[in-house]
Amino acid sequence: MKEQLEQLLAAAVAELQAQGTLPAELSPRIQLDRPRDKSHGDFATNLALMLAKPAGTNPRALAEALIAALPENSLVAEATIAGPGFINFVISQDQLLQQLEAAYQDAHVGVANAEQSQRIVIDYSSPNLAKEMHVGHLRSAIIGDAVARVCEFLGHTVIRQNHVGDWGTQFGMLLAHMEELEGSELAMELSNLETFYKAAKKRFDESPEFANRARELVVALQSGDAKCLQLWQQFIDVSLSHCQEVYDRLGVKLTRDDVMAESAYNDDLPQVVEDLRSQGLLVEDQGAQCVFLDEFKNKEGEALPVIVQKSGGGYLYATTDLAAVRYRQNQLKGDHLMYFVDQRQGLHFQQIFTLAKKAGFAREDLQMDHYGFGTVMGKDGRPYKSRDGGVTKLADLLDQAEARALALVQEKNTGLSAEEQAQVAKVVGISSVKYADLSKNRTSDYIFDWDTMLSFEGNTAPYLLYAYTRVMSVFNKAGVQPDAISGTFVLQDEREQALANLLVRFNEVVHTVANKAMPHFLCGYLFELAGAFSSFYEACPILQAEDEALQQSRLKLAALTAKTLRQGLELLGIETLDKM
Ligand code: ARG
Repeated sequence: MKEQLEQLLAAAVAELQAQGTLPAELSPRIQLDRPRDKSHGDFATNLALMLAKPAGTNPRALAEALIAALPENSLVAEATIAGPGFINFVISQDQLLQQLEAAYQDAHVGVANAEQSQRIVIDYSSPNLAKEMHVGHLRSAIIGDAVARVCEFLGHTVIRQNHVGDWGTQFGMLLAHMEELEGSELAMELSNLETFYKAAKKRFDESPEFANRARELVVALQSGDAKCLQLWQQFIDVSLSHCQEVYDRLGVKLTRDDVMAESAYNDDLPQVVEDLRSQGLLVEDQGAQCVFLDEFKNKEGEALPVIVQKSGGGYLYATTDLAAVRYRQNQLKGDHLMYFVDQRQGLHFQQIFTLAKKAGFAREDLQMDHYGFGTVMGKDGRPYKSRDGGVTKLADLLDQAEARALALVQEKNTGLSAEEQAQVAKVVGISSVKYADLSKNRTSDYIFDWDTMLSFEGNTAPYLLYAYTRVMSVFNKAGVQPDAISGTFVLQDEREQALANLLVRFNEVVHTVANKAMPHFLCGYLFELAGAFSSFYEACPILQAEDEALQQSRLKLAALTAKTLRQGLELLGIETLDKM
């Protein structure tokens, strides 16, 4: 509805331009807001306030002209001018009923495809493989996966890229440690990468011979020594299967095929540097090859360097990312490159995007965006740590989530078998962790707190999962299938009306999530929807409804609520339960 109303307003602006009331060169951004107070209508716009000055008239007069210039339509029931010149719109009830019916019938729950289907390359998760995944890796995997699902749902082609860090000096130390261990012992040690890394680091810090060997091995590895490559490959395989286990448990849709590791770009790196040189962009600074971009300056006002080759000849993180941009554009044919990476890498990505365009690695119209996120904090207000003060392995964290959820489920004792309880605990535990992350504004830090995330009250996964089972129980009791209800929507009670108003907003919310790469809008919406259902359910009897027509309509409202909740949660990567 929002899009349709925007189109109507755009047509009104064009009409006023044709009439000469508005200057022809204006192309205003039309913004529609949802008034908090329903008595102000369904939508409001400040368009007249924005355009009054360039039009040389007063806002209220312009608002009047805009309303008069709206094309004939069946969407707007009423348009009124408020305050200094806001326009408030009330949407027609007929339209609302039509859209409810369409959403009820539609496999996509009334969500329209994006206007233009794009090829979107999404870089997410992308951990370093030297260590096991830890809590710091949660956000990229969870948020990136949700946005990928939403983009696919809107008809885009999504290409997932797991840009894992599998190259670099730490691997020397790990290979040296592998060399020292024999067959079965090695396999054992590798089964816990966290302790393996620590043991190797300890040897490195304590023994100068070991440290020397580690350095030799890095050189050997980078020059393609077969023995080293084979050991390295063995390590990478183990590390990647740890990652895959975590993705599978989390319901993150990444597979081994999505892995495009840093090392995959190795052969292209000399060419990247050569191309920068031939364009006259390279400057040698203390032996290193750099590009200085005027767009990025330090406090003293000096341009900051992007280092692409070290004095010893080695390449860097930035060099690989430049190669990756080129690959994503040319081989993967991406129209839009999205990166879900910690906020602290913001400058790095702005430099890469700017340089990639300057060097012609990226077309002028290639869209590249870094979507940063804040840190996962402990209750003490510092980055989240395990009880022993170390980083928490993601696998352990998920074990804990499931165990805590199981205790809750057992405590609730809702008559589930032990097997069912275990299944419910799995879903509740994992989705609580995911939802806690998704429901916060991506750009802020958030506090990781078991009690709030596992609570059955508030904007949490348990609350929504439970709300879903409650809606579904209506159909069990009625003995009907939610997708096989006859009759039409009738909105009598204000709670029915409020629920209906929310249900038809799903389309708009899903598009916002894709446009802003911000899943918390969907979480907030689903939470509100569950609340609206709850009020409706308490006030409006379904099975005891006054007559058959009303009963059918209410069942249909419940069915559309269930469908919207299920689809919404699925887009967030959260599976629903039929009972809990
Ligand atoms: N491996 C990096 C890290 O852990 C993140 C990589 C993000 N993706 C990229 N194309 N740079 O910090």
